[in-house]
Amino acid sequence: MQTETLTVDPKNPQPELIARAAAILRAGGLVAFPTETVYGLGADALNAAAVGKIFTAKGRPSHNPLIVHVTSLDRARSLAAAWPTIADVFAAKFWPGPLTMVLPKSNEVPSVVTAGGPTIALRMPAHPVARALIDAADTPLAAPSANRSTQVSSVRAEHVLRGLAGRIEMVVDGGPAWDGLESTVVDLTGPRVVILRPGPIDAVMLADALGYEPTSRDVHATEDDADALPSPGMLKKHYSPSARVELTRDDGRTAALAAADDGLRVGWLPLADDISTSSDANLVLPVRVIRCAMPRTAAAYGRRLYDVFHQLETAEVALIVVETPPRGPAWAAVHDRLSRAAAT
Ligand code: TXA
Ligand code: MG
Repeated sequence: MQTETLTVDPKNPQPELIARAAAILRAGGLVAFPTETVYGLGADALNAAAVGKIFTAKGRPSHNPLIVHVTSLDRARSLAAAWPTIADVFAAKFWPGPLTMVLPKSNEVPSVVTAGGPTIALRMPAHPVARALIDAADTPLAAPSANRSTQVSSVRAEHVLRGLAGRIEMVVDGGPAWDGLESTVVDLTGPRVVILRPGPIDAVMLADALGYEPTSRDVHATEDDADALPSPGMLKKHYSPSARVELTRDDGRTAALAAADDGLRVGWLPLADDISTSSDANLVLPVRVIRCAMPRTAAAYGRRLYDVFHQLETAEVALIVVETPPRGPAWAAVHDRLSRAAAT
């Protein structure tokens, strides 16, 4: 199959172009599209055969459930068998946006979407292209991140093509994703809210809405334990570039230079004040070291991380040395993705 790239205006996607992408989805095909977090790989969530193709294209294990994307609260409610008050509170505060809510699933949803489980993950994206596509297809879209299973999520259309060219019908190119990291996933099925995956909506923002600190489940586990996980996508080895990733306490220069001395091609990610002028007059690096300066604020760091990982994969580095960023609630998503990338 030839994968078509369809370039649209990210802010005002052209209806006649969106209609072409929507027609593929209506016919049971796969279309990758930008959201505010990362690119998603969409299929009609109510078409079991179409959803099945997502698992094949990604090489995703069938026990890992998908997020379903909607544009209206009524549609979200109709896909859940129960809708607690807190879901309304979160929806009012964070939707449309990068929050995914896990709720009991309604019978309307084919079981392939939820990997046979009793719950469904729901999200209302904010990105105009995602919204236009859902509306034009006139159906909820099941969409995991648009990358091969266990690899780095895509934040540009070209990243999607690196992993999925020839395996999906179309990628809608709406420019870079905004947040650069996947949505926060919260479990609302228990008596207290649990964060299953940290993301752009951090624990402090959730606590403000809730009136108490949500629990963060430490869901790091190995592949073998996958079935036992509350959120099966939370395998320890996930979101990883093919290069080895090493986190350092210092700025990482010594480790990067040592590896280059050993003949390796290395990506080096130190924190820097101004990433636009990342060249440093007294910094003479061997050609084998690619320096990618990283921002000191969490949101900007998150926006850049996967983009840098993809660049370094293209450059075929063997090692990525990362200066450990600061701690704190706003940094939880970055630390989560870095520690998964570094897991062996
Ligand atoms: O930002 C995002 O969330 C992106 C965009 C495309 O929306 N999507 C995304 O999907 O990251 P994916 O499939 O790569 O990650 C979804 C995560 C996985 O960890 C999955 O296990 C978890 O959500 N998940 C999905 N359904 C679930 C459920 N019913 N219960 C618990 N976890 C669930
Ligand atoms: Mg993913």
